[in-house]
Amino acid sequence: AIEKTFLMVKPDGVKRQVIGDIIDRFERRGFVLRGAKLMNVPRELAEKHYEEHKEKPFFNELVDFITSGPVFAMVWEGENIIKLARVMMGATKPEEAQPGTIRGDYAVTISENVIHGSDSPSSAEREIKLWFNDELV
Ligand code: CMP
Repeated sequence: AIEKTFLMVKPDGVKRQVIGDIIDRFERRGFVLRGAKLMNVPRELAEKHYEEHKEKPFFNELVDFITSGPVFAMVWEGENIIKLARVMMGATKPEEAQPGTIRGDYAVTISENVIHGSDSPSSAEREIKLWFNDELV
């Protein structure tokens, strides 16, 4: 089915100037960009975004990191994109991220891992609403 998902280049990816490469990878796959913005993340938005991790020991580190510099928030659309984007991103654990994936090509730590992508249809819906109200084309 045609789906929408929320993807975000994290502060490390913005600093390393890989936004263009990331957009290129998704466009080459045939996915369509529906919304995008470069933005600083208010702490309240970061905490809402990561609310499922509220009880984890790394929650504060996560919020500190995502608010440490601008992110590039995006909504993408395409066939089965929620799952396929996760495959293109690569695994969260650096030792499991295959070369050729975004994380496998760029990241060596679990926290500074360049990109976020919604992990299910329900989180995609929630995250798109949270980051883009009615701003999609
Ligand atoms: P993401 O999938 O964007 O959302 C949850 C994030 O938690 C994940 O990326 C990782 O960057 C981060 N994360 C997961 N496990 C750890 C950990 N043990 N220490 C720090 N960050 C973590």
